[in-house]
Amino acid sequence: MREGSTRTIRRPRSAPAAVRAVVVAGASRGSTAVGKKITLGRSRLADVTIADFTVSEFHVEIAASSDGIEVQDLDSWNGTHFEGARIQRAVVPRGATLSLGESTVRVDVVTEEQPSSAVRDSFRSLLGKSTVMRELFALLERLAATDLSVFIEGPTGSGKELVARALHDDSARGPEPFVVLDCAALPGNLAESVLFGHTTGAFTGAVAPRVGVFEAANGGTVFLDEVGDLPLDLQPKLLRVLENRQVTRLGDDRPRPISVRVLSATWRDLRRMVNQGAFRDDLYYRLAQTRVVLPSLAERREDIEALVAEVLRRLPRDASCARAISREALAELAKRDYPGNVRELKNIVERAAYMCDGPVVRPQDLAFERMLERRNEPRFDDSGEDEVPEFKGAKRTAVDDFEHDYLQRLMARTDGNIAMAAARAGIERHYLRSLLKKHGLHTRG
Ligand SMILES: Nc1ncnc2c1ncn2[C@@H]1O[C@H](COP(=O)(O)OP(=O)(O)OP(=O)(O)O)[C@@H](O)[C@H]1O
Ligand SMILES: [Mg+2]
Repeated sequence: MREGSTRTIRRPRSAPAAVRAVVVAGASRGSTAVGKKITLGRSRLADVTIADFTVSEFHVEIAASSDGIEVQDLDSWNGTHFEGARIQRAVVPRGATLSLGESTVRVDVVTEEQPSSAVRDSFRSLLGKSTVMRELFALLERLAATDLSVFIEGPTGSGKELVARALHDDSARGPEPFVVLDCAALPGNLAESVLFGHTTGAFTGAVAPRVGVFEAANGGTVFLDEVGDLPLDLQPKLLRVLENRQVTRLGDDRPRPISVRVLSATWRDLRRMVNQGAFRDDLYYRLAQTRVVLPSLAERREDIEALVAEVLRRLPRDASCARAISREALAELAKRDYPGNVRELKNIVERAAYMCDGPVVRPQDLAFERMLERRNEPRFDDSGEDEVPEFKGAKRTAVDDFEHDYLQRLMARTDGNIAMAAARAGIERHYLRSLLKKHGLHTRG
């Protein structure tokens, strides 16, 4: 059984543009690929592999843009050159020739065939009717049926964790455990024990045995979140566990067999980290047998309406809040930029639903950015004056003051450590970061 509905959609008349890259001179002459985004490099995981030692593992990425082809060099050693000039990020004309080390590549725009005319508009709890999400759901459905490792890329708040959960839930491992390991929050000296477990007395303070993440997930899935933050010294150890399919607790000499599917994600560009030697390429290959790239919300504004409706539908039944949104407010939301992607949209809608005074969210209820400016508004206190401030302004000022004070105390108590602060406050790190930014509070984490 699958959640969500399947709907037949009409084939769009003009298919979205894709790019083609062909190696025209050098070691891998003739190698080619077509796609919305193409990575070229020496790695066998690149979309076009160029067997040339002057080319970096992941050298450059190209994508179609309205006025040509967008080229983004991935911090390659020898650079990407166009007409004799080294380029970092640039738009080049169709049919342009790029030099990557000693190899030459021609890039062009092509019209892509639509992969299918009937695709779903949700996958488990992931929603989206945009073409890019529908294609993604079709891919996820196929991936869920396999045991391949999946590396999930995408900007913050774009749904990476949700994709990992959906892949697990939809797979044969669904009834087994799904264990999330946040690699950015691993305690330095205990990291190895968190991953692999330990026996009593394995080190000072190991008073009881501990089951590591891999053993705990046996039969199911481990999701290595923020895997780009995995300490370098742990990387070969993790690779060994994945290749040998067995784990040995610290202080133990008996390996235990495990069957675990590994999914991983990061907002960092691991390909750049591989180029810079900050992430082991052999581990990257093992983690990224397949890759899933999530688009930013700005690239799929058609999905905003369904996401907003879902947020309103999921508000607690007994809460006193708005449960509908006006057309004008929706139009206002569709115009905005969302650096925090779906998470930011959800936060905005949720807060508006609670803060507004009527049953329907209107454009004026979405003006949270102005909250800070209202800090100086009159408060409704016992100062004895006759002034009665307007209710909504006073409510916003109060919430704003509360957030500010709460964050200050929280960060003081956790010594500015974001991971610890988010855990203690019971909110997600990225949301905490955005709140801190909004209030101009700086941290060390
Ligand atoms: N396609 C989607 N449909 C419905 N909800 C979504 C979708 N994508 C993301 N969300 C929601 O947005 C929020 C952020 O998603 P998630 O935590 O998976 O993002 P992330 O990519 O892991 O972010 P980060 O990089 O900050 O960890 C969650 O509340 C999630 O449920
Ligand atoms: Mg995440």
